[in-house]
Amino acid sequence: MKLLVVGSGGREHALAWKLATDNKVEHIWVAPGNAGTSLENKISNIDIKATNIEALAKFATDNNIDYTIVGPEAAIAAGIADYFNAHGLKIFSPSALASQLESSKSFAKDFMVRNQIPTAKYQSFTTKNEAINYLDNFSAPWVIKDDGLAAGKGVVIAQTKLEAVTAIEQMLADNNDKSNKKIVIEQFLTGEEASFIVMVDDKGNILPLATSQDHKARDNGDLGPNTGGMGAYSPAPIINEQLHNRIINDIVQPTVNGLQQQGISYQGFLYVGLMIDKQGNPLVLEYNCRFGDPETQPILARLESSLLDLIEHGISGTLNQAVAKWSNNAAVGVCMVSKGYPNSYEVNKKISGLHKVTTAKVFHAGTKLTAADGTLITAGGRVLCVTALAADIKQAQAIAYQEVSKITWNGMYFRTDIADKAII
Ligand code: AMP
Ligand code: GLY
Repeated sequence: MKLLVVGSGGREHALAWKLATDNKVEHIWVAPGNAGTSLENKISNIDIKATNIEALAKFATDNNIDYTIVGPEAAIAAGIADYFNAHGLKIFSPSALASQLESSKSFAKDFMVRNQIPTAKYQSFTTKNEAINYLDNFSAPWVIKDDGLAAGKGVVIAQTKLEAVTAIEQMLADNNDKSNKKIVIEQFLTGEEASFIVMVDDKGNILPLATSQDHKARDNGDLGPNTGGMGAYSPAPIINEQLHNRIINDIVQPTVNGLQQQGISYQGFLYVGLMIDKQGNPLVLEYNCRFGDPETQPILARLESSLLDLIEHGISGTLNQAVAKWSNNAAVGVCMVSKGYPNSYEVNKKISGLHKVTTAKVFHAGTKLTAADGTLITAGGRVLCVTALAADIKQAQAIAYQEVSKITWNGMYFRTDIADKAII
C-alpha cells in the first residue's frame, strides 16, 4: 500500500513513522516533510507544500496513492478533503466546511451554544470600542482570541486592562470598511487542561484515542506567550473513566450530531481542547480539526494497534468496528525549539548529538539537511520532539530529559517542567 502524509511537523513525522511499521505499507511520501522523515525507512519526502492541493492530488493520482492523511489545519481549511474526494482520491481529513470548528472561533462558539456544549461565556466583535467596553463584564485576566487560524498563537491572556486593550487594538488594527476581522473575548476559565482526540467517520462513528496533555505556554510554570505546544504527555491522569464517558456524551457526541443536523458530516481526527474545572466539569476551550502537535508524538508512541487499520476504518465509515489498543506505559515528549519562538528566531544552526540518543524517539519538525553535505540544521521554531516511553510518566520524563541533554545547537531552548503536572 502507498500512502501520502501531508505536512512537515513532528506530528507528521510521528504519523509516517507509525504507519511505516505496518507490513501492508510499501512506501510513504511526506509532503513536504522534514529531515527526520527523509531519514526513515520506507519514507521519503516530496517537495510539495501542504497547501498546494492540486499538486498533491496530481501526485496522489500519478503514484497510485491508496490513502492520504493530512496533518496541518491550513491544508484542511483550504479544502484538501473536498478536492481529493471530488477527484476520487481517498483521504482522511475533514471538509473545509467542517473545519470551521477550528478555522473560526466565533463559528465554534456559536455552534457550542446552539448545541448546549459547555464552554466559556463569550462575545464576538469587529469594532474596537464595543470590544473594549465588553471587558467590564469580567475581571482579570482577560482572554482575547483572533477569530481565524493562528497556529496556536492567536490567543492573548491579558493580566491587565492595558494589555487587553492593546491586544484588541492590535488584532482589530486593520479593520475598516473593506476588511472585517473578528475577535472573540471570553471568560477566563481555571482548572486543568487536557486534550481529547478522537477519530470520526462520515457515519458519525467515534473512536476515542488515548488522552494527553499539551503545554501551550513557552516557559516553565505555564508562563510566557502561547506557542503551538512545548511538550506533551499521554495518558492525562485527570481523565478517569467517568470523566471520559462524560466527555463523549456531553461534548464529542453532541458535536458530531450538531454538525450532522447542519448537514455537515465529519470525517477525520477531531481534537477537543478541554479545561477541567475544580468541580471536575469539562468545558471546551477550542476545537481543532486535526491531530494535535505535539500530542500526536506521545499518543502514537503508545499505540499498539495498526494506525493504518484505524485510518482504513475511518475512511470506510466502519470506525464502530475498530479497536485501538494502547500500551500501559506512559509517554512524554519534550519539544526543543529555536530561541525566540513563537516570535522571531534564527535558523540554519547545526544540530549535534542526535546520534547519542538511544532510549527515546526523536521526532523532527523544523529541520533540514544541507544540500552541500547533508548536515542536519534547524529550519523552524519547533525543531525536535524527544519522546520517551516508560512504565510511568515520571520515568518517561526522566528518560526524555536525559536524551534532550545530549542534543544541542546554538540558540536551542526547551521547558524543563514538561509532565511535572502529572507527577506532583
Ligand atoms: P485556544 O487556541 O483557544 O485553545 O487557546 C490556547 C490556550 O489559551 C489554551 O490551551 C489555554 O491555555 C488558553 N486559553 C484559551 N481560552 C481560555 C479560557 N477561556 N480560559 C483560560 N485559558 C484559556
Ligand atoms: N498542541 C496543540 C495543537 O496542536 O494545536
